[in-house]
Amino acid sequence: MRVGVLTGGGDCPGLNAVIRAVVRRGVQEFIGFRDGWRGPLEGDTVPLDVQAVRGILPRGGTILGSSRTNPLKENGPGRGGVEQIKDNLASLGVDALIAIGGEDTLGVATRLYAEGINVVGVPKTIDNDLGATDYTFGFDTAVNIAMEAIDRLHTTAESHHRALIVEVMGRHAGWIALHAGLAGGANVILIPERPFDMDKVCGYVEHRFQTRYAPIVVVAEGAHPGDDDLSVASGKLDSFGHVQLGGVGALLASEIEKRTGKEARCTVLGHIQRGGTPTAFDRVLATRFGLHAVQAVHDGAFGQMVALQGTDIVRVPLSAATESLKLVPVERYAEAEVFFG
Ligand code: F6P
Repeated sequence: MRVGVLTGGGDCPGLNAVIRAVVRRGVQEFIGFRDGWRGPLEGDTVPLDVQAVRGILPRGGTILGSSRTNPLKENGPGRGGVEQIKDNLASLGVDALIAIGGEDTLGVATRLYAEGINVVGVPKTIDNDLGATDYTFGFDTAVNIAMEAIDRLHTTAESHHRALIVEVMGRHAGWIALHAGLAGGANVILIPERPFDMDKVCGYVEHRFQTRYAPIVVVAEGAHPGDDDLSVASGKLDSFGHVQLGGVGALLASEIEKRTGKEARCTVLGHIQRGGTPTAFDRVLATRFGLHAVQAVHDGAFGQMVALQGTDIVRVPLSAATESLKLVPVERYAEAEVFFG
């Protein structure tokens, strides 16, 4: 049996650990597809054997490359994206695919499975917002990077009596902001699930200054004030129709300065959160996902995704992973609110 492996969407620490585990565990023959769905769409492959995965466990990024190519949108002259993928898999002798990705990549996998392609999914995203799995790998690494940044920003904020705003990733879900903010002792945490009130945020900032400490505000890039649209720095859309986010931190800094008279500055962590070596937690989770994905292929459990439930790796239908996002529940946010101001 010949199995294709691909990594799609935003990269994330732990992707290489999955690829390594798949190849090391598998008795099948593997072939890598380059750059997410672009690989099967264009028949762009790379050899994937034990030699190719040597030494990659601690490496961030993905040796296969990634992209946000959406084959469901590819309807150029001739055959559409799904048919092109079917043709390429047939001519390469690929019987099954292991697709490692988030909401969009696994959404495509769900559709391809419905069209008769043998696919097993592996959930990844630093945002930790995929349904049906308690955690995705990459999240723990991103949280630790953001926490370390917050720790460092505390000392410089105190020295200069400034409010420092830290913008972290999190398009629809505020998991990174919530965990990094709690772990780093932030004074305000703003998440996409809960539109914020600028006056209230400024109240927390002022209170913090009154207690002779400098405030740290952690804001997810998808957070927005209640009476406004998303704060979007660029109008660019990707091929799945997602707008490129960024800018809410700068907006907060300027409003806080205006309304409190205190100096406020913003640090955008951006792709630093996605780069570099994965934490031990993410390496172990990614490795276990890889092992179980190969087993699923071996068992012919197509249309399934491996998932973490409690401490067990289970199989869930691919559709369950993408039908609704896992958002921060109200009671989890309430725990963090105890520390605001
Ligand atoms: O989905 C992961 C993620 O890092 C989001 O948090 C963020 O909005 C998006 O990817 C950014 O993607 P890109 O690097 O393609 O701009």
